[in-house]
Amino acid sequence: EQIANPAGLATDSLAYVESMVESNVRTQRPIFFRGKLDLATALEQMLSSEPSQVIDSVVSSKLRGRGGAGFSTGLKWRLCRDAWGDQKTVICNADEAEPGTFKDRVLLTRAPKQVFFGMVAAAYGIGASNGILYLRGEYYYLKDYLEAQLQQMREQGLLGRSIGGKAGFDFDIRIQMGAGAYICGEETALIESCEGKRGTPRLKPPYPIQKGYLGQPTSVNNVETFACVSHIMVEGPAWFRGFGTAESTGTRLLSVSGDCSKPGIYEVEWGTTVNQVLRMVGAYGAMAVQISGPSGDCVSAEKDGDRVLGYEDLSCNGAFTIFNKTRDLLWIVREHMQFFVDESCGICVPCRVGNVDLVHKVDLVRAGRACQQDLNEVVQWGTMVRKTSRCGLGGTSPKPILTTLERFPEVYQAKLVQPKGPLLPSFDLEAA
Ligand code: NAI
Ligand code: SF4
Repeated sequence: EQIANPAGLATDSLAYVESMVESNVRTQRPIFFRGKLDLATALEQMLSSEPSQVIDSVVSSKLRGRGGAGFSTGLKWRLCRDAWGDQKTVICNADEAEPGTFKDRVLLTRAPKQVFFGMVAAAYGIGASNGILYLRGEYYYLKDYLEAQLQQMREQGLLGRSIGGKAGFDFDIRIQMGAGAYICGEETALIESCEGKRGTPRLKPPYPIQKGYLGQPTSVNNVETFACVSHIMVEGPAWFRGFGTAESTGTRLLSVSGDCSKPGIYEVEWGTTVNQVLRMVGAYGAMAVQISGPSGDCVSAEKDGDRVLGYEDLSCNGAFTIFNKTRDLLWIVREHMQFFVDESCGICVPCRVGNVDLVHKVDLVRAGRACQQDLNEVVQWGTMVRKTSRCGLGGTSPKPILTTLERFPEVYQAKLVQPKGPLLPSFDLEAA
């Protein structure tokens, strides 16, 4: 990220945060930054529909979760609405910690009420009375500003008791600070953390929509998902479906960083190709693009340039990190794998032990002491970690090594030595 401070502002001031964000938002403004939303009208419009119609509208927009997994937002809300419970909760996951993502911070700085109004819409649809914004520990400097925004919304009748004059529609939002643990971005660890416990993932099912915060049905959605909902409430689902592709409607905020001349935040329609983004951000001579950060796919600029960002091809949580040909790909892989070793909560063996072993394998390759047998084991062990880990962290952690091995096999092959004996037979875990 470029960080400029031309006015010499105190770096903990909101004015500094805003100037920093302003200088880094490079967008065609299709959705989020078009201008201020008239929330009073949006609320009036929303309350003229039944809660189930609000959910139908979100289903019809085909909005999918912007955290990365892409589950249907409307379906999640419908399941939560139908689940039994007397105090349902809506949680906004602002624990944006994937290396290379910083777009939620921009939304929360520039358009926090879009995010909060999306939570109000969720609460109305689901029948929730309790709202939590789980804010990444490193974004502590935003807390007072966001509290002030919430207070304004209370004063405008957008939060609190009988919202919009609707008897029985009571909903408020509190801010829960994270403390710097990546694992707390995983929804069940996040819920544990909200309950005041150590952030350790729970087994799923039961999903949070069945048994979440304090054992009650809970919908956890990403910051950008809620912001999308605010616009759907105003413009309608058909308008939203007009952006993007059939399977991936709307736009995607990209956090672009790395080897390019114009890093920053971009809003692009789903369906944009890797090459289009590379050209837009002035990335020439790119070798690899890490889509979705270390937990996503590392693709080749040469082989994958025509692939599209979208759930039908390259699903993306917003991170778009570019590495040019001067970079040491194996060192990048090692650092990304070490990140997962450091951030693993350690409760299950495949993730706690498997990732350490995978880092050792990368070290062996980098030192020029690995043979084909090691690469075969990397695939077997990586698949085992992916398939048997308890949560999404372990489920995606071998990706830096597995996806680079697939897209850049020559980088690994160039470092191999000949084995001194026959190779051991390999076991196809994927088929198993
Ligand atoms: P998941 O696929 O298990 O769940 C996605 C959402 O759908 C969850 O809210 C889950 O509760 C819900 N869900 C799934 N199946 C359901 C069912 N049958 N009934 C009801 N609800 C259901 O994925 P997960 O583990 O929540 O997230 C993994 C993703 O997170 C990955 O794609 C990864 O890229 C992304 N990620 C994003 C980060 C960021 O900073 N934005 C950081 C790390 C990972
Ligand atoms: Fe913890 Fe890793 Fe297991 Fe997730 S996969 S529960 S982070 S040890």
